[in-house]
Amino acid sequence: MKRYHPLLVGLHWLVAVMILVALLIGGPSLAEMKNSDPEKMFGLTGHMIWGLSIGALMIVRLAMRAFSKRPLPASAGNALLNSGAKFAHLGLYVLVLAMVASGLGIAISADLFAIVFSGSGAPLPADFSIYAARQAHAVIATLLLILIGLHIAGWVYHQFYLQDRLISRMWFGKRT
Ligand code: HEM
Ligand code: HEM
Repeated sequence: MKRYHPLLVGLHWLVAVMILVALLIGGPSLAEMKNSDPEKMFGLTGHMIWGLSIGALMIVRLAMRAFSKRPLPASAGNALLNSGAKFAHLGLYVLVLAMVASGLGIAISADLFAIVFSGSGAPLPADFSIYAARQAHAVIATLLLILIGLHIAGWVYHQFYLQDRLISRMWFGKRT
């Protein structure tokens, strides 16, 4: 098996783009907006739907991964780097799911589902940082960004130093 299943490939790139947009654009611009800003409700609606969709797609991806044939683990020619890649991939799954879970934690703490989606009319708290889940959301975002940076560095190492075209495993084409 030379490549991941095309659905896994498609989901990898879709989820990657969605995560980068949330991490670099959506989340930070939402955090900058005051809760008293009339635009805040619109931003929250978008970010919550976007974040929950990432969670749903990630679960579909994990299920697909369990039921599809995968290429054998790639070698970076060094046992330490190979285990590093294994832990980094596990870490990416864990941190993305932790991001969604802490986002849900903020939503539950502040009763956002009723306020944002059902128009309960209850006020937003002055600041979400009173919630532990909000602080966790920011810490996990930083860790995830660092791990994505390392993941991309791994790709650069394979692409330009080992020149083994690892990326083709995560692209479409003949699998055998
Ligand atoms: C931004 C969010 C991203 C996330 C959350 C992510 C997550 C993952 C995960 C969990 C895997 C392991 C696949 C598995 O066995 O299930 C993987 C594989 C891979 N990713 Fe990403 N990825 C991201 C972005 C990127 C980017 C930007 C690149 C390239 C520049 C990239 C290149 C690859 C490659 C080449 C593989 C295959 C590695 C192998 O076959 O061992 N990823 N990614
Ligand atoms: C992988 C999915 C997600 C990513 C990458 C993400 C990313 C972010 C980022 C980067 C921030 C700003 C952090 C900061 O600068 O301190 C943020 C804030 C926030 N996120 Fe998420 N998020 C995700 C999922 C969710 C979900 C599922 C929810 C709710 C259901 C949610 C609700 C919030 C809220 C309420 C804030 C606070 C905004 C504020 O402080 O005004 N997030 N998110």
